[in-house]
Amino acid sequence: MAMSKASVATATVPNDLEPYWMPFTANRAFKARPRLIARAKDMHYFTAEGRKLIDGAAGLWCTNAGHNRDPIVAAIQRQAAELDYAPAFQFSHPKAFELASRVAALAPGDLDHVFFCNSGSEAVDSALKIALAFHNVRGNASRVRLIGRERGYHGVGFGGIAIGGIVGNRKLFGALLAGVDHLPTTYNRAEQAYTIGEPEWGGHLADALEGLVALHDASTIAAVIVEPVAASTGVLPPPKGYLERLSAICDKHGILLIFDEVITGFGRLGYAFAAERYGVIPDMITFAKGVTSGSVPMGGVLVRKGIYDAFMRGPEHVIELFHGYTYSAHPLACAAGLATLDLYRDENLFERARKLESPWAQAAMALKGLPNVLDIRSVGLTAGIDLASKPDAVGKRGFEAMELAFHEQDLMVRGVGDTLALSPPLIISESQIGEIFDKVAKIIKAVA
Ligand SMILES: Cc1ncc(COP(=O)(O)O)c(C=O)c1O
Repeated sequence: MAMSKASVATATVPNDLEPYWMPFTANRAFKARPRLIARAKDMHYFTAEGRKLIDGAAGLWCTNAGHNRDPIVAAIQRQAAELDYAPAFQFSHPKAFELASRVAALAPGDLDHVFFCNSGSEAVDSALKIALAFHNVRGNASRVRLIGRERGYHGVGFGGIAIGGIVGNRKLFGALLAGVDHLPTTYNRAEQAYTIGEPEWGGHLADALEGLVALHDASTIAAVIVEPVAASTGVLPPPKGYLERLSAICDKHGILLIFDEVITGFGRLGYAFAAERYGVIPDMITFAKGVTSGSVPMGGVLVRKGIYDAFMRGPEHVIELFHGYTYSAHPLACAAGLATLDLYRDENLFERARKLESPWAQAAMALKGLPNVLDIRSVGLTAGIDLASKPDAVGKRGFEAMELAFHEQDLMVRGVGDTLALSPPLIISESQIGEIFDKVAKIIKAVA
């Protein structure tokens, strides 16, 4: 979309940065040296001064179709002019149903109903609530426990931080949810370092679920939730066989399995969903981000037919699930979602990600041996590069790398502690893969 002069003019540095309390941000460092973005197109961001940065992070793992794609922009503009909002409760609009059908058609097996919300965090809370309510409506009200995993990230709702496994996201926020337990992380550097794709070692770690069943009894456990690839804590691909084993144990004990595919959905791993890549059909899939390529907030939960059907009983005038959001299936999000799914289909972007997986991984692994690099992992179009922490300053090297990438190398990369996380838009070219990793190599040397 061509930028008007007015919109460029308003995108300069604001006079007062103080009032905005930025999320998951080192506020004081940012305000001392802001990293402001004015506009974007395809693989690039532009600063107000016109500096062009290549996006190695798809924004925040979300702009899978690339930035400001014309069909998505046009669909949002048309929708804004036609229908701004329709009540989400007891009323709706046609595009909500159309998008639900399109998302369901991308999902494997009988994952054929979609509950919409506005973010990954809401998707996770919705899925956890559906799991608890499902057992209740089936007369299994004792199934109240929820099992997450160490190093899991499931957003920032109380449900998400409780089942999540990141200490910083949990420790200041009280008692969280009761009745939560965690599987061990699947990552083990000694066994897995520098693996491309799914590591050979670690499938047996799924058996820890049997241990939790022995401890709590299956009759008390409602659901297990995992990211197929734990992305936010630095790209941790599942060991070979792990997800299959987890699924088999869940089936054996009547425990629902939820895949949190907020990042792995919509092509990031070369398929519509990681469930397809791994040949495992969970009971629910949470999604967000890529469904609209980041253009309008949207999230959702895909549920298997049997789960939806379990709720469809009793008098027909009665609400079956007391849950939902004012902006569930917002018209702008639905319009953006439909245009995004068209682009994924028309440009074969999931297949493109599959084809680029190998050159991407090779380019990532070529950084082995650079100063402070401890491990590199890569799966689909993602990569995690662990750097050694500075003595007594955990996270500082990663922060400096992210800052330097922005200010000096014209690269958008995500720093998670001392790990650099990469996940470009799926429209990336092979030469842009080379460009990104050349820049990352310079950055790693610069922060040595
Ligand atoms: C796996 C996973 N679940 C949930 C979320 C939360 O999504 P949101 O930030 O849209 O609430 C994220 C965000 O990165 C995520 O990676």
